[in-house]
Amino acid sequence: MWQYTPRVAVVRGLRTPFAKSGTVYSALTSLDLGKMVVAELVQRCGIDPNEVQELIFGNVIPSVKAPNIAREIVLGTGLPKRIPGYTVGKACDSAAQAITSGADLIFRGYADTVIAGGTESLSDIPILFSKNFSDALVTASKQKSVGGKLGSFRKVKLKDLAPDTPAIAESTTGLTMGQSAEKMAKENGITREAQDRFALQSHTRAAAATENGRFKEEVMTVVVPPKYETVVETDNLIRGDSTLEGLAKLKPVFDRKYGTITAGNSSPLTDGAAAVLLMSEEKAKAAGIKPIGFIKSYAYAAIDPFDQLLQGPVFALPVALERAKLTLKDINVIEMHEAFAAQVLSNIQWMGSKKIAKEKLGRDEAIGDIDPEAINRTGGSIALGHPFGATGARIITTVCNELQHTGGQYGLVTICAAGGMGVAVVLERE
Ligand SMILES: CC(C)(COP(=O)(O)OP(=O)(O)OC[C@H]1O[C@@H](n2cnc3c(N)ncnc32)[C@H](O)[C@@H]1OP(=O)(O)O)[C@@H](O)C(=O)NCCC(=O)NCCS
Repeated sequence: MWQYTPRVAVVRGLRTPFAKSGTVYSALTSLDLGKMVVAELVQRCGIDPNEVQELIFGNVIPSVKAPNIAREIVLGTGLPKRIPGYTVGKACDSAAQAITSGADLIFRGYADTVIAGGTESLSDIPILFSKNFSDALVTASKQKSVGGKLGSFRKVKLKDLAPDTPAIAESTTGLTMGQSAEKMAKENGITREAQDRFALQSHTRAAAATENGRFKEEVMTVVVPPKYETVVETDNLIRGDSTLEGLAKLKPVFDRKYGTITAGNSSPLTDGAAAVLLMSEEKAKAAGIKPIGFIKSYAYAAIDPFDQLLQGPVFALPVALERAKLTLKDINVIEMHEAFAAQVLSNIQWMGSKKIAKEKLGRDEAIGDIDPEAINRTGGSIALGHPFGATGARIITTVCNELQHTGGQYGLVTICAAGGMGVAVVLERE
């Protein structure tokens, strides 16, 4: 079975505080956030930037002006210009893909030092024109006379002038993530109370982790340009004062009549960036660096989006475990991305089901039981936020740091993603 030998080290990870989109980072782009986190990561790691051989970054809603944001980050942070960079778009698995691709480069011996992560600003999404109107603009730009230019707009109707914004919807099913999560909640019988309880746990734990300084090692301070008057030290989405009663009062958003998914038990629209520095174990050792963890194995999977869209992790997990030659019982720290409480609880239900194992995975035994209270010890995406392109780097960093704090040997990350995809990454402490 495949695993990294020699190992790939996660030297350390860092993120900006995450913020509700349209708030403290509303004037910033994904590029601004990505540059900040990379610049500070390099500084905190104390490495010579000349050592870096590749920069790989996830970004889900790219800017049409700078689509290869990874290379822009290299050029915009003063890193040596000879460092290539490429951008990964794999929905919410993007930063995980950036990190595992970086690990692959190191494993093959093509590089020994790579920066990988992701960034997202949902405050700065591209607003498009309708096809009719953009066709007319292109035609007009090619006309020489004023009459010709004006004539290009003859077929444009008033409704064509309405802005076209990116939707968080599957192009195949036409359903938003929230509608897909509603479908999962209904099919799996995940109650509103169970979802709200899980959301409450996320907020309570994130608030406690912030309060006791646990995030200091992985969250930087952002002094927001261009005025440099606002200082952001912590995530601004955590609601430590959440109560079950307060959550229960919220109206369902995606199925107003029969639904159970609310703003309280969903991950919110978020701005933020996160990155890790990867090195070969040999190089880290030679430099006297003690990495926060090692990548042991990973697996990606995809399922039919018309089935239960956000169950991808269930299919990735057994493969990643097999590649690591481990079972769920060996894992000490588990972090599951919380797109929605209903999705986490559905993933856990399927992972524990022998019937699902037989019918969907072609396996005789269930993957294993996961106690929802045993995961996400410092909160998850519901409370901390979920900048799509960055979340994988946040979670991988958190698992490594949790292993350091608890002394556990093995950690697990699972992340669901649009398109029916999912990833599982197995990490180890030393
Ligand atoms: C669910 C969603 C539509 C809510 O957006 P929103 O309406 O802007 O959310 P808000 O933060 O304004 O919250 C709505 C209300 O819930 C309340 N609320 C949110 N969390 C709460 C909590 N933990 N406790 C109590 N109230 C809460 C807010 O105070 C607000 O109340 P108000 O209307 O009285 O001000 C949006 O976050 C979303 O689309 N999330 C899903 C993102 C997604 O699909 N991600 C992909 C996953 S892979």
